[in-house]
Amino acid sequence: MREGVDGTLLEVRDLRVTFGQRAAWLRPRAAGRSGEFVAVDSVSLSVAPDEIVGLVGESGSGKTTVARAIVGLVRPDSGAVLLDGVPLGPAGRRTTAQQRAAQMVFQDPRSSLSPRMTVAAIIDEAWRTHPSSAPPGDRTAALHRLLDDVGLDASVARHRADELSGGQCQRVSIARALAVRPRLLVCDEAVSALDVSVQAQILRLLVDLRERHHLAMLFISHDLGVVHQIADRIAVMRRGVVVEEGRTTEVLGSPRHEYTRSLLDAAPELSGAGSQDGEVARGA
Ligand SMILES: Nc1ncnc2c1ncn2[C@@H]1O[C@H](COP(=O)(O)OP(=O)(O)OP(=O)(O)O)[C@@H](O)[C@H]1O
Ligand SMILES: [Mg+2]
Repeated sequence: MREGVDGTLLEVRDLRVTFGQRAAWLRPRAAGRSGEFVAVDSVSLSVAPDEIVGLVGESGSGKTTVARAIVGLVRPDSGAVLLDGVPLGPAGRRTTAQQRAAQMVFQDPRSSLSPRMTVAAIIDEAWRTHPSSAPPGDRTAALHRLLDDVGLDASVARHRADELSGGQCQRVSIARALAVRPRLLVCDEAVSALDVSVQAQILRLLVDLRERHHLAMLFISHDLGVVHQIADRIAVMRRGVVVEEGRTTEVLGSPRHEYTRSLLDAAPELSGAGSQDGEVARGA
């Protein structure tokens, strides 16, 4: 598939998203004049093929709204989301290839997977939603390959989501995203609900998948420590705005914005982090 002329897979250009009127006490600084709430303002970022870009910021800074705009679930007031340089419409207006290209992995796998469905049915549903991604011939073999890809045993296929551990559920969510052969994973707090040791396993899996499937990722987290482990580049959001963006080493090694410095101060394990970006990615 074609990449943007400058090697950019995904570009978010000058994105602005507002939500309806809020009570006065709920709209401090970010409120527009008419009372609409500006959740995302002039946000631009790009993701190259094979690249992992981290998007960090405190709760309410607009990270999920950016993610939802990328997959077409939120309609921007202005600005654009481009894939291979082509502007994307809302989800319903996207071509099948555009819909398949960017897949989301959510924070809480237990609520994003139907608890009563078997893993086999969950994957099959993804193939039915996008028939162009369904494997020709034997789906069972394809299902088992997919599970193997995310480090799950074939026997997991028979289990219902509510019989699995949190880490297994997140692997199933990732398998469901991979089933339609995306080019970009938008991981929204994808490891935030997991124990630290399971977090590390899932981060390693994502890095592996990037290499094996040439996947790009937008990796969203409020946790700078996690983003530091996986991202090649980082964009820092605060109150709807990207306040700083650059290579992970630069942003963490010599942060330019006061807000980034405060995030770093709140993550003491990252002191001196500038020299060791993407440590999972580099197999450290
Ligand atoms: N559908 C909506 N309607 C109204 N306001 C919304 C809606 N979605 C998000 N917001 C508001 O927009 C702001 C940004 O929300 P968003 O969920 O994008 O932040 P976030 O950075 O993902 O936060 P968190 O780290 O808690 O997930 C918040 O103030 C939120 O309350
Ligand atoms: Mg969020």
